Amino acid sequence: MLAPASASIPSIDASATPAQLRRFFYAAYCDTPTPLRWLSAIRPYVCPYDKLLQFVRDGADVLDVGCGAGSLLAVLAATKKIRRGVGCDVMAPPLESARAAAQRLGAQDMLTFEHIRSVAHAPEGPFDIVAMVDVLHHVPPPDRRDVFAAAVHRVRPGGIFLYKDMTARPGGRRLAHNIDDYVFTREWVEQVPEGAVEAWARDHQLALVHDEFIPRLIYGHELRVFQRLEH
Ligand SMILES: C[S@@+](CC[C@H](N)C(=O)[O-])C[C@H]1O[C@@H](n2cnc3c(N)ncnc32)[C@H](O)[C@@H]1O
Repeated sequence: MLAPASASIPSIDASATPAQLRRFFYAAYCDTPTPLRWLSAIRPYVCPYDKLLQFVRDGADVLDVGCGAGSLLAVLAATKKIRRGVGCDVMAPPLESARAAAQRLGAQDMLTFEHIRSVAHAPEGPFDIVAMVDVLHHVPPPDRRDVFAAAVHRVRPGGIFLYKDMTARPGGRRLAHNIDDYVFTREWVEQVPEGAVEAWARDHQLALVHDEFIPRLIYGHELRVFQRLEH
């Protein structure tokens, strides 16, 4: 049972700007302790959720692998874009925030969140959309191919694998990401090398349908959208 909210949650639609998403997250994550609530609220300025929404078709069943506090699914539920969303993560505490936000949004029947030991233990699906946002650079390099394979295995034929990670292109944006992750996780991460996911995708009958570099503030993002072939 959640405490009464201090303010109502602003409504958003699929064209929401980062500023609108910030206000939405700040209200929806009111049960998340400060400063994590603040970090959730400002994350749309860093992470281009607004750019991801256009690739989620209405009424989709979505699996978000490494969902953290469930921000992407919260937006998809609030914009009424999806039929069902399942988030999974190897860390349990952010999932508590995700569940509380889902309840605040009245989306507790639409969204579920599962603590998993590895992606191999994620719900099987298959799903219309499997998303993996800023997860792979946290996975040790020797394990990345298997984590990728386990995620895309859950995309139904004709479905979409929505991948976004921090850029590996040499330069200031990559360094900004390294410093950011070091400050927050004490980990000097190794970005996913350019071309790696495209090569793995070909091994899994996934066609690249959208490829975009997104500069945002001091960061750089690599968005790749793949579609599983219908056989
Ligand atoms: C930077 S956060 C991104 C969270 C969320 N996707 C978002 O965009 O807000 C990275 C997340 O990946 C999760 N993660 C790391 N390794 C993972 C793995 N092998 N399987 C599933 N999740 C993983 C972490 O626990 C963390 O919640």
